[in-house]
Amino acid sequence: MKKFTISTEKPYDVIIGEGLLADTGRYLRALFTPRKVCVITDSTVNALFGKTVSDSLRDSGFQVSTVKFPAGEHSKTLTTYGNILEAMAEDAITRTDLVLALGGGVVGDMAGFAAGTYLRGVDYVQVPTTVIAATDAAIGGKTGIDILGGKNLAGLFWQPRLVLCDYSTFDTLPVQRFNDGVAEVVKNAVVSDANLISHIRDKRYEYVLERCISIKRSLVEADERDTGLRQLLNFGHTIGHGIEKLSAYKESHGQAVAKGMVAEARGAYLAGYTGNDISGELAGILESFGLDTSLGYDPEEIFRLARMDKKIRNGKINMIIPEAIGRCSLRKLTLDELRTFIWLGLTGSRPS
Ligand code: GLY
Repeated sequence: MKKFTISTEKPYDVIIGEGLLADTGRYLRALFTPRKVCVITDSTVNALFGKTVSDSLRDSGFQVSTVKFPAGEHSKTLTTYGNILEAMAEDAITRTDLVLALGGGVVGDMAGFAAGTYLRGVDYVQVPTTVIAATDAAIGGKTGIDILGGKNLAGLFWQPRLVLCDYSTFDTLPVQRFNDGVAEVVKNAVVSDANLISHIRDKRYEYVLERCISIKRSLVEADERDTGLRQLLNFGHTIGHGIEKLSAYKESHGQAVAKGMVAEARGAYLAGYTGNDISGELAGILESFGLDTSLGYDPEEIFRLARMDKKIRNGKINMIIPEAIGRCSLRKLTLDELRTFIWLGLTGSRPS
């Protein structure tokens, strides 16, 4: 078992280990007196781990209610969000109760958004059960839902009170869900630590979690509200989010980010923002994990969606420029430059 403290405005611990779920109640009792816990989860995760977590919470004196929704990105909507709030009200959850997000990135984002907005804010705990959530989404307080205009366009920063990562849950992940997480680990490798690639290949989960969490911790502590350095963690996401949306979420998040990373690396090189073209090496790594890196998307459509990117400020966007696997920088682009960058990344040519 390892513990990290994330020193945001309200600090909290991230605990990683094997078999932690059966002790969820004990970990929560170290922080909270007995109270109601509203477990928010999806249908798949509830069937796998819902009982273990609820039993553990009850054994530690908590009252438990469960709100669940169908698994998948297509659930991350205003409708599901509304249903969660109504269920919380039905269960008479108050400001002194607690929300527990049990699941992957979709559950964590939705439960965090519900916790942050219900009664103007209720404490919550993240219990991620996927690689993508444990290495990235559950840490740092980003919450949100998709709206018709794009992915994660409604949300708030709401830091959890505790993050409990039990990596034995990864053993239940279907290959595609596991590979989704691999894409985010490769992202961390490009941003900060090339060695991560061999460690995830060997499934050394504890090491991978420790490294990804410490990379994330330093960026979140430096830039809690995502106005500067934290944006490095968005490598591949400007084009990746567009791909997710254009595919009507048929491309999973990790899969879309894998394509986005290759396109953004190629765009950065062809636009002359770096002397190094890592796109071929990166594509090779991603493909070796079974991720598809083909880029058959309309650049103009991706640009239309990228104009909604949350990194845009005063008509400019910080793009993440990979200099090597393990080293990236930020570069401010105008929207015209962003359009050219997207064209170059997706097609190899400039817009006519
Ligand atoms: N997922 C990127 C971040 O939390 O900033």
